[in-house]
Amino acid sequence: MSKKIKWGILSTANIGVKKVIPAMQKGIYSEVVAIASRNHENAKRVAGELNIPTAYGSYKDLLADESIDAIYNPLPNHLHVPLTIECMEAGKHVLCEKPIALNTEELQRLIAVREQHKVKVGEAFMVHTHPQWITAKQLINQGEIGDLKSIHGFFSYFNNDAKNIRNIAEYGGGALFDIGCYPIHTSRFIFGEEPTGVISLIDYDPDLKVDRLTSAILKFPSGQASFTAATQLQRYQTMQFFGTKKSMEIEVPFNAPDDQPCRILLNDGDIMKPYTAVTTIETCDQYTVQGDAFSLAILEDNEVPVPLEDSMGNTAVIEAIFKSARTGQWERPTF
Ligand SMILES: NC(=O)c1ccc[n+]([C@@H]2O[C@H](COP(=O)([O-])OP(=O)(O)OC[C@H]3O[C@@H](n4cnc5c(N)ncnc54)[C@H](OP(=O)(O)O)[C@@H]3O)[C@@H](O)[C@H]2O)c1
Repeated sequence: MSKKIKWGILSTANIGVKKVIPAMQKGIYSEVVAIASRNHENAKRVAGELNIPTAYGSYKDLLADESIDAIYNPLPNHLHVPLTIECMEAGKHVLCEKPIALNTEELQRLIAVREQHKVKVGEAFMVHTHPQWITAKQLINQGEIGDLKSIHGFFSYFNNDAKNIRNIAEYGGGALFDIGCYPIHTSRFIFGEEPTGVISLIDYDPDLKVDRLTSAILKFPSGQASFTAATQLQRYQTMQFFGTKKSMEIEVPFNAPDDQPCRILLNDGDIMKPYTAVTTIETCDQYTVQGDAFSLAILEDNEVPVPLEDSMGNTAVIEAIFKSARTGQWERPTF
């Protein structure tokens, strides 16, 4: 049997319990050995349900467990940086949920601590390692759609529950941090460039004080990207790529199904058809792929899929989008 990285899970967060832990347990290089919760009973219950050997009643106890190599951090957004720093100081590698930080200053701190403790840290953009995104990038780089000039993205769902972490401003809530980060990450990934300017429009919920409808245009050296992220609209997601010869759409770009193949749709100009050709991607669980890619980077001492330097680019764009909405002007992402 191949060597596996021993993972500890920080909290009983929904995304961990429902998706990431079961997916990592299916991995070749990942083994989930412990979970911690602020409430010991919750930790024990989830450990029982998911067959995790050890349950801790505090995050500190998890970090003190010397048998653990790496931590998965799916805490609310405002706790990503402080707890990721505590993990690094305990000598653990960290895969931290998006958005890993709320501003570029926090990212500088993460980079400094990572350098000091010589551990691996990455942002959990599971899309980055999904074969449908790797294939889309390959097709575009090979010139399948001609010269890529324009990207359009849309990501929405409806959730106005004031108790949800996404709707608590001090927790780093709002549409841009929660889902706007995905079209930004994937536009930067596909162009392979950083935007030089952004302009945006934001509608804040008057009671919750978080952004609920955010649109932005990103100016890249090779073209333009625009997207809308919304937390109080019907559920929808798409990413579309427009080239000089064809257009391309990733059908389910972010919440890719784990029980059926994904599709990349191509259209060579027949506007009466949704697509004129399809590239089908073999069924996979993107969270298994993500966990194994991170574990393998540790085992082989390679770069993790989304290192902090990449996160810095994304966070700078988010910062510039918030600023542009305030100033009403183009802003340059800086870091
Ligand atoms: N990559 C993806 O596909 C994806 C999908 C959804 C969410 N996410 C990210 O994952 C993170 C968690 O999202 P989620 O929806 O799973 O959150 P959630 O269910 O609300 O879980 C957050 C967990 O954090 C712990 N926690 C510690 N301090 C807390 C506090 N002050 N308030 C609330 N919870 C606290 C709690 O666990 P204990 O009580 O056990 O300590 C709680 O269960 C977010 O950063 C989100 O952006 C990523």
